[in-house]
Amino acid sequence: MPSIKFINELEKNHITSLYGLEKIIADDDDCEYLFEAANRVRQKFVKQEVHLKALIEISNTCARECFYCGLRSKNKGIKRYKMSAEEIVSRAKEAAMSGYKTVVMQSGESSAFKDDEICEIIREIKKFDVQITLSFGEKSFEQYRAYKKAGADRYLLRIETADRALYKALHPNMSLKNRIKCLENLRNLGYETGSGLLVGLPGSSAKILARDLMFLKKYDFDMIGIGPFIPAANTPLEHSKAGSIKLALKANALTRLLLPKINIPATTAIETLDPNEGRKMALRSGANVIMPSITQSRYRDLYKLYPNKFCLKESAAEIYDKFDEMLSLIGDKISLTNGNSVRFNQRRGS
Ligand code: 5AD
Repeated sequence: MPSIKFINELEKNHITSLYGLEKIIADDDDCEYLFEAANRVRQKFVKQEVHLKALIEISNTCARECFYCGLRSKNKGIKRYKMSAEEIVSRAKEAAMSGYKTVVMQSGESSAFKDDEICEIIREIKKFDVQITLSFGEKSFEQYRAYKKAGADRYLLRIETADRALYKALHPNMSLKNRIKCLENLRNLGYETGSGLLVGLPGSSAKILARDLMFLKKYDFDMIGIGPFIPAANTPLEHSKAGSIKLALKANALTRLLLPKINIPATTAIETLDPNEGRKMALRSGANVIMPSITQSRYRDLYKLYPNKFCLKESAAEIYDKFDEMLSLIGDKISLTNGNSVRFNQRRGS
């Protein structure tokens, strides 16, 4: 079996060559072996516990034109919304009262919210004694600093791909250099910093994915989310082929092997491609976080990064109970800690 020796090396040393990664990615025969190795590493370093984090999608307005994303500014086919501060804070309160230890606020990249507004919302939510994760895209150092000072704890900014040419082809008027600078700024400001990849993008390859994974390893992120590309209507890539769930799960597993102590969500895009088994498969191949959307349904349906985006219809409390039950069936349980990654706590020396 060609890739088993590289998988074994990864399980033992958490590193292999670029060549080894590429071999594993290109070889579909040893998938189960790879997933089992990632599951063992997950159990060993982050236990059977899953962090449940409440996602609130505060606005779908976006000034960017990323070729794959349904929220791109040129998509006139969706109604844009911006939640009010009261709506956001009351949603966050509901999450805190239902047992979630983290509230994640996500939006398109825009100035729909003024920084003062965001900071005030952060301060209000902090009163509920939860950790706050932000995912608002590329902002200046000063903006990131202001959010941090207001009480934000974590930030998610996927690199999507670290391949310069592919990055440029998919992101008009953006640069890989600035994205990396943003990630460095976040790290330097003391955020628990998350990044991640879109896999199976048109123009990508096993070699590019292997390099992307090495990039994530080198930057030693605290959290990494990996999702398959799903073609979205009214985008330049609407007729392109979707990424495969298998490739996304393999990238997920390789991420766990490379970075054993970080937090890895079972992403919504994986769930969307297989609503019955996707989440479970991700949790059994390295993932240890679930981030269900608890956005009000009238907004949730408008936050369409891609079609059929998986979401549950229940309330925050019902979703919590549902996962509690689902996780106990597979031998996992919801973590009662604050949701930091083992890696971040170690970095901080606590
Ligand atoms: N398919 C899958 N994931 C997507 N995202 C955006 N558009 C798509 C798509 N068409 C992901 C990006 C972004 C995250 C918020 O959503 O990776 O970082």
